[in-house]
Amino acid sequence: MDHVSYAIVVEELAKACATTSVMYSAHVSLTSCPIDVFGTDEQKKRFLVPMNRGEKLGAFCLSEPGSGSDSAAAVCMAEDKGDHFILNGSKNWITNGIEADYYLVIAQTDTSLRHRGLVALIVEKGSEGFTFGKLEDKLGIKGSSTCQTIFEDTPVPKANMLGQIGEGFKVAMVTLDGGRIGIASQAVGIAQGALDHALKYSKEREAFGKPVNDFQAIKHMFATMQTEIDAARLLTYHASVAQDRGERFSQEAAQAKLYASEVAMRSTVKCVQIFGGYGYVTDYPAERYMRDAKITEIYEGTSEIQRLVIASNLIKGK
Ligand code: CAA
Repeated sequence: MDHVSYAIVVEELAKACATTSVMYSAHVSLTSCPIDVFGTDEQKKRFLVPMNRGEKLGAFCLSEPGSGSDSAAAVCMAEDKGDHFILNGSKNWITNGIEADYYLVIAQTDTSLRHRGLVALIVEKGSEGFTFGKLEDKLGIKGSSTCQTIFEDTPVPKANMLGQIGEGFKVAMVTLDGGRIGIASQAVGIAQGALDHALKYSKEREAFGKPVNDFQAIKHMFATMQTEIDAARLLTYHASVAQDRGERFSQEAAQAKLYASEVAMRSTVKCVQIFGGYGYVTDYPAERYMRDAKITEIYEGTSEIQRLVIASNLIKGK
C-alpha cells in the first residue's frame, strides 16, 4: 500500500485503541521502512519478508538513559571487529521492547564524531548478551510494552548493518520522518475516537430536561474539535503524499505531528469535560483517550523538537 493508506490504517486502529496503533506503527514506520529504504536485497529477504507476513515484530532503539532529543549524543558503543561489531550499552523507552524479534539499534562507533560516528544495526532477539531492563509503568498506551534493552558484549554481524558506518544518524532521521507521520495519524485517530464517544454520550445524557448536546457550550466544543481534527488529518495526508512522491518531507511530517498531537490533547481534554464526572472514572473510555493522547506530544520527537525541525527547514530551505 502507499503511505496515505498506511496513515488511514494507523488512524483507524487508534480510533479504537492507541496501544494497537503504536505497536503497528513502531513495527512498520520505525523498523520495516528503514530496512526497505536502506537494506540490501539480502537483508530485505531475511528481515522484511517475515516482518511483512506478521511472523516477526520490529522495534527501534535510538533513545538512551542520558539522551532523548539529542540523538547524536548516543553512547551505546559498537566496536568494529572486522566481520562483526561488539555492542555495549543500553537503549531506553523501546516500544514493542519485550515482544519484538528484530531491533534496529543506532549505536556509536566513536563518540568524538557525534552524529557522523553512528551506525544502524539489526540486532536479533536471543543474541548473546542481549537482555531487557525495567518494564515501564506508563500513564497511557498501557497495553504496549516499553522497556530498556541492554547489550553486554553482544556480537552483531556486519551483514546486519543498514547502510555504512557513519550513516546511522541519517537512517534514524529518515526513519523518524516517516515515524512522525505514523504518530500524527495515531493522534488524529485518538482525537476522532474521543469525539465520536463524546457525541454518542451527549445524545444519551440529559441535564435540565434535555440532552446535553442541546447546549451551545457543548455544540461549540464539538465544532472546534471536528474542525481541528480535520485540519490535522489533512496535514497528515499532505505529508504522506509528499512521502509517496519521493520528496523530502521532514517539515511536512513535523508539522503534521506537532499539530495533530496538540489537537489530540485538546480534544481528549474536552471529551473528558463533556463526560463530566463519568469522564474522570474508568467506566467510560474518555480518560483512556486523554492519557493515551499525551505521549503523542513526546515520543518520536517532542513538540519542541518538531518546532525546531520546522524552523530549521524554513530557514535553510528544503
Ligand atoms: N533526513 C536526512 N538527513 C537529516 C535529517 C533528515 N530528516 N535531519 C538531519 N539530517 C542530517 C543533516 O543534513 C546533517 O547532515 P551533515 O552531517 O551532512 O551536515 C546531519 O543530519 C546532522 O543534522 P543536524 O545538525 O540538524 O543534527 P542535530 O544533532 O542538531 O539534531 C534533531 C537534529 C532534529 C534535533 C534530531 O536530533 C532529532 O530529531 N532529535 C529527536 C530524536 C527523536 O525524535 N527521538 C525519539 C525517539 S524514537 C521513539 O520515540 C521510539 C518509539 O519507540 C516510539
